[in-house]
Amino acid sequence: MSSPLLALRQIVKNYGGVRALRGVDFDLRAGEVHALLGENGAGKSTLIKIVTGAHAPDGGTISLAGQPVADLTPASARALGIACIYQQPALFPDLTVAENLALRLDATSAHARVDWTARRARATALLDRIGAAIAPDTEVCTLSMPEQQLVEIACALGSGARIVIMDEPTASLTQKEQHLLYAVVRDLRKNGVGVIYISHRLEEISALADRVTVLRDGQSVGTHAVGDINEAGLIRLMVGREVAQIYPAAESAPGAPVLSLRGVGCTASGVHDVSFDVRAGEIFGLGGLVGAGRTELARILFGLTPADSGQITLAGETLLLRSPQDAVAHGIAYVPEDRRRHGVVLELPIAQNITMAVHRRLFPTTWLRFGAERALALDYIRDLAVKCAGPDAPGGSLSGGNQQKIALARWLATRPKLLILDEPTQGVDIGAKSEIHKIIRRLAQEGLAVILISSDLPEVIGMGDRIGVMAHGTLRTILPGGSDPHTVMAAALGTAA
Ligand SMILES: Nc1ncnc2c1ncn2[C@@H]1O[C@H](COP(=O)(O)OP(=O)(O)OP(=O)(O)O)[C@@H](O)[C@H]1O
Ligand SMILES: [Mg+2]
Repeated sequence: MSSPLLALRQIVKNYGGVRALRGVDFDLRAGEVHALLGENGAGKSTLIKIVTGAHAPDGGTISLAGQPVADLTPASARALGIACIYQQPALFPDLTVAENLALRLDATSAHARVDWTARRARATALLDRIGAAIAPDTEVCTLSMPEQQLVEIACALGSGARIVIMDEPTASLTQKEQHLLYAVVRDLRKNGVGVIYISHRLEEISALADRVTVLRDGQSVGTHAVGDINEAGLIRLMVGREVAQIYPAAESAPGAPVLSLRGVGCTASGVHDVSFDVRAGEIFGLGGLVGAGRTELARILFGLTPADSGQITLAGETLLLRSPQDAVAHGIAYVPEDRRRHGVVLELPIAQNITMAVHRRLFPTTWLRFGAERALALDYIRDLAVKCAGPDAPGGSLSGGNQQKIALARWLATRPKLLILDEPTQGVDIGAKSEIHKIIRRLAQEGLAVILISSDLPEVIGMGDRIGVMAHGTLRTILPGGSDPHTVMAAALGTAA
């Protein structure tokens, strides 16, 4: 048999005392989709950074089509046909799509005449090939994150990449965009490209991948053909135990309304005429398609884009929420969706990242601070199973999913009256996901009102005591918790159920 496209042998990577990879073997064949699976902090992104030349390994060998390569750099990796689609695309926002593609794909010589007609035609051809309805003259800053991802993929295609790596590509995509991406991946495979696909969504892996390698604590615990292993088997490999996907149910009826919205709107963010109540002890699930206005509504309630119509009442008091400071002062906490960018201060220790929003409440005097801060941080590190060297390690040393957990912990620690969670389990592994569900339920049980925004339909339906469905900037309907997924979907799409 011919050599695999990519062969990694005994790859070792240490970050200070953290042993991120401890001798990992991995093969990628031409024309296969090879999924990489593992808990948060297992070493997936680290392995990718080594393949793309972003980080140098401390040991082991890398071969491409049978040829050993040493001292891989980002530039040499790209020249060897390795392309990586990041979750946060790295495009120039003020340039057009065609210009961005040209910058990536054309060797620049200062005096060469630029043939813009040809460049535009090439951009159109590449975008067509992946089925993206994006005009080449569009400025990148006007594109959504998923559209930017598609442009990245077009770049990878245009550069003739033989190895395409995707690190959690579908985390922020709508269902339609997901299916578009799956089609692109299948097309790459058909053309002999090898795809490394990282995802926490098991259903996606069984639908898309040919083989799957599971990492645990920096080691490979097995490579399997996808047809030979089921989801339960994968979870067992990944976590080392069984994890039941059971949503914790409410133990008591909710109390009086904590939050009431009446005809709330904000012209700037396209939200209009939203009315509902959330009671103490209640989890109000907010479903809908990406772009339906759920995050925009959360931003209104947190004072980020103040409402210009309607009335917001919290605990009996009518509020004018003009800034996040207003919101926090009234007991509103908001955990934003894009925690990788807005969540964690990379330079600060993990403990301070967790406690920064509660300093005044917890620490009236400085000398009390250290012990209390540590104790609180350690509680959350344990409850959320944060994989880290310790509470003093910097936020930047955490894996993507563990950063998400820290951002969540910070707001959970504020003990608010109203807690708004935007995609709280996105990018989080299966074991941690069920821990987070338990914590959310426990907080509700303690009397908090919770708004839970999630694109994970089973999560909204399973966790929500009631489910508000948004579409086109307004609340369409309110359904009971545990409703049929088709009914929720139909409401979100605006079709009759
Ligand atoms: N720059 C760094 N400094 C110190 N430790 C790091 C650094 N980058 C990663 N680590 C550690 O290496 C381990 C592996 O991290 P990695 O980012 O590869 O995990 P992952 O499998 O991608 O997880 P996730 O699913 O959360 O994205 C973790 O314990 C992490 O804390
Ligand atoms: Mg990662």
